[in-house]
Amino acid sequence: MEFTELVKTRRSAAKFIPDLSIPQEVLDDIFQLVKYTPSAFNLQHARYVVVTDPSVKDKVYEATGKQHKVKTASAAILVLGDTLAYQEAGQINEGLMHLGILSKQEYDLTIQSVTDFYLQRGETFMREEAIRNASLSAMSFMLIAKDKGWDTCPIIGFNPEQMRQALNVPDHLVPALLIAIGKEDTTSGRPRGYRKPVGEFVTTNSF
Ligand SMILES: Cc1cc2nc3c(=O)[nH]c(=O)nc-3n(C[C@H](O)[C@H](O)[C@H](O)COP(=O)(O)O)c2cc1C
Repeated sequence: MEFTELVKTRRSAAKFIPDLSIPQEVLDDIFQLVKYTPSAFNLQHARYVVVTDPSVKDKVYEATGKQHKVKTASAAILVLGDTLAYQEAGQINEGLMHLGILSKQEYDLTIQSVTDFYLQRGETFMREEAIRNASLSAMSFMLIAKDKGWDTCPIIGFNPEQMRQALNVPDHLVPALLIAIGKEDTTSGRPRGYRKPVGEFVTTNSF
């Protein structure tokens, strides 16, 4: 699909065609492209839990206050951000050092500066970074899914603690949003929500 058309035709699905499973290959193809989403210092803070097992999906459905679209979605995907992603700076940059693209000195300096950047700004910033980077990744996911013929709905209406328990989420991961994915049942044909004119959300140089 042409990119402008893709952006314009992506909608948050109101309801999905029930009992439709999403092939693992489709999910794999989507994630292979999601990898290219930008992230601060290339730390790749985003984590995904793909829920297809009906009994687990039922718990996710409960955690969303029984949003019908979660029940009928082919999968419910929790997108999380890693508040401790900066601790992986070493591992992420190791390859570049082994290839000789980064000298040992540049490598050490990179790790030091990334670590200092997060430690100096503290826990609130680490949490913001987790959610910011995971959210960008989630947007990539939804556009890529649409390009592959799958509809999505981002969902923030859930109880985070209940979700944490249902999916055994470790403490350092913070839920950014849930994505319901499937094929939309378009029979209701609802119109798109109002969009502000550009002049209402863009200013140039200053407010
Ligand atoms: C962060 C976020 C959270 C959302 N949470 C929900 C939700 O809990 N339930 C829901 O039905 N839709 C949810 N939506 C979908 C919005 O209602 C939808 O994006 C908006 O109305 C614009 O419609 P469109 O996506 O079709 O363009 C959410 C969207 C975003 C970006």
